[in-house]
Amino acid sequence: MKKYIGLIVIIGLGCVSYAQANMDDLYKYYNPQGELTFGAERGKTLWHKKHLDKKGKERACTTCHGEDLRKSGKHAKTGKVIDPLAASVNKERFTDLKKVKKWFKRNCKWVLGRECTDQEKGDILKYLSQL
Ligand code: HEC
Repeated sequence: MKKYIGLIVIIGLGCVSYAQANMDDLYKYYNPQGELTFGAERGKTLWHKKHLDKKGKERACTTCHGEDLRKSGKHAKTGKVIDPLAASVNKERFTDLKKVKKWFKRNCKWVLGRECTDQEKGDILKYLSQL
């Protein structure tokens, strides 16, 4: 029995360090030369900033993800439930570069009308990782 507990602990620790390494991987991906500094405060401002669409309707990251990122959000167009974005309650968040890239692209375009810069993405990730 003891043997198994040890094994479970090791697997558990392995998972934790794997997830953390991935967040660092993302920072590195958006800052390969190391010249940028990412800040959660700036990320928070970007996250909540409202932009107007062509019809004058407000759009922000919160439009679909909600005000409390530890809770589920709701897609503004399809009404589909979106799982919480905060890494503290959703361990799968920010562990897959492909997924992060895909949704940054789509969502920045939808909200800002353009892609986000690496600086903006890094700032937003800093903010989201602290929630
Ligand atoms: C129109 C609705 C909508 C808006 C607005 C929106 N998102 Fe999302 N976002 C989604 C959906 C849908 C997913 C993918 C489903 C999921 O992961 O649960 C997602 C996933 C993500 C992910 C991937 C997280 C992961 O699992 O690794 C990131 C990062 C993200 N969004 C960032 C943003 C940012 C930044 C903004 C504001 C610029 C934003 N989103 C605004 C709908 C939206």
